[in-house]
Amino acid sequence: MKNLSALVLAAGSGKRIKSNRPKVLHEILGKSIINHLLDSLVEAGIEDIAVVVGPNGNLVKAEVEYDVKYALQEEQLGTGHAVLRAKDILNSEFTLIMYGDTPLIKGETVKYLVEKAMLLKADVLMMTCPVSNPNGYGRIIRKGFSFEKIVEEEDASSLERKCKEVTAGISVFRTSRLLSALEKIDNNNNNREYYLTECINNIKNNGGSVETLKISDEVQVFGVNTRAQLAKCVSLFKDRINSYHMSNGVTIIDPNTTYIGKYVKIGVDTIIYPNTYIYGNTVIGSNVEIGANCEITNCLIGDDTVIKSSTLIDSEIGKNTKVGPYAYIRPNCKIGDDVKIGDFVEVKNSTIGNGTKASHLTYLGDCDVGERVNFGCGTVVVNYDGKNKFRSNIKDNAFIGCNTNLVSPVEVEENAFTAAGSTITDNVPKDALAIARSRQINKDNWVKGRS
Ligand code: UD1
Ligand code: CA
Repeated sequence: MKNLSALVLAAGSGKRIKSNRPKVLHEILGKSIINHLLDSLVEAGIEDIAVVVGPNGNLVKAEVEYDVKYALQEEQLGTGHAVLRAKDILNSEFTLIMYGDTPLIKGETVKYLVEKAMLLKADVLMMTCPVSNPNGYGRIIRKGFSFEKIVEEEDASSLERKCKEVTAGISVFRTSRLLSALEKIDNNNNNREYYLTECINNIKNNGGSVETLKISDEVQVFGVNTRAQLAKCVSLFKDRINSYHMSNGVTIIDPNTTYIGKYVKIGVDTIIYPNTYIYGNTVIGSNVEIGANCEITNCLIGDDTVIKSSTLIDSEIGKNTKVGPYAYIRPNCKIGDDVKIGDFVEVKNSTIGNGTKASHLTYLGDCDVGERVNFGCGTVVVNYDGKNKFRSNIKDNAFIGCNTNLVSPVEVEENAFTAAGSTITDNVPKDALAIARSRQINKDNWVKGRS
């Protein structure tokens, strides 16, 4: 869209959320509020986006996932003042303004508003919504059907407060009209703030055309001002996403305790057990079992795999593989098909071939493991000497005896065995048995000789 840019207001100090971090950086299902909002703008096809940030804007910039412009509002004097601080970068004929604390708005709804605005070419097209609890929102006051004014909560009469139609803070403005109205408004209200909503009243009072687009899904306009609203927002987001997956053939045993990020993909007949978090760009195949008590971030998981009570990060797991209970798959692992990663097994930055088993109490860090390798209980790949990390290579069909230390860098060739309790510091040739421990001595009648 050549003649429309978006401006997101995110400079507020977040007084009501009582946080040392900007409000827009608080997370909902593994993603900060501001990024949820930017996702929707990008989904709506908007390319030119600017964000107004406050004094700790560097924290916001570090978190934002998109290439956007920034404007700085040093002092938080109100939403209208925030827009004014960005006036030098508002160069398009129309400007879509959104508030950074409204993460549930959908891309398709933004697109609908923008398309409508491009047809109407009004001075303002404002999204409104009737909500069950209008507390804290600017109320839309109408004369008959037509828009008359917006009144902020603090300035509203008790009659006006009863009105349930509110502004979501999402509007498309003719930029020239917006900027001239911004110059005119004052902060003569109960909050002593320069309101953006007052600009809309100003445009209307000066003969401008102000149109409204009423939507009915109040979830989308939900704004986050307090910790309680943050929790409510997580819950609304979660319900929306869980419903989507259930309608696509995923079983979620307890939707109340299942938290799935919005870009996660899940195949049919997968079952998700309670207390499970699945975030980022995770893609899960069909007929997979996940949970209870799993945390999975940015992973690819093949069909028919079972993952129980485990944490998996930035990794790939094949088909028909079993992970857990209580496994920890750290970043950059590629685990094959028909693998078993059992209880209290940690894997990091490693490849594990098809059919390999590490069933219990094992650490596999920085190693390349072939197919059908068996790790006995208590194997440790000793990958770190206190300064540097080293890689080891364990080839197909190797059998690593219980309680073996593999001191990296070391190679265990095909079909080789290590004896239980060995500390392996040299390469083990193909088909060999490596024994690296001292022999047992039995001292006969030693106990009787003790004084
Ligand atoms: C605002 C609207 C209200 C609307 C509601 C929708 C105003 C005056 N009120 O109220 O009509 O119904 O949102 O959710 O606009 N911000 C700045 N700089 C500032 C102040 C705020 O960048 O000086 C940003 C905040 O970071 C936030 C957004 O603007 O993302 C909205 O500010 P907030 O204080 O949350 O406004 P509300 O009281 O919710
Ligand atoms: Ca708000």
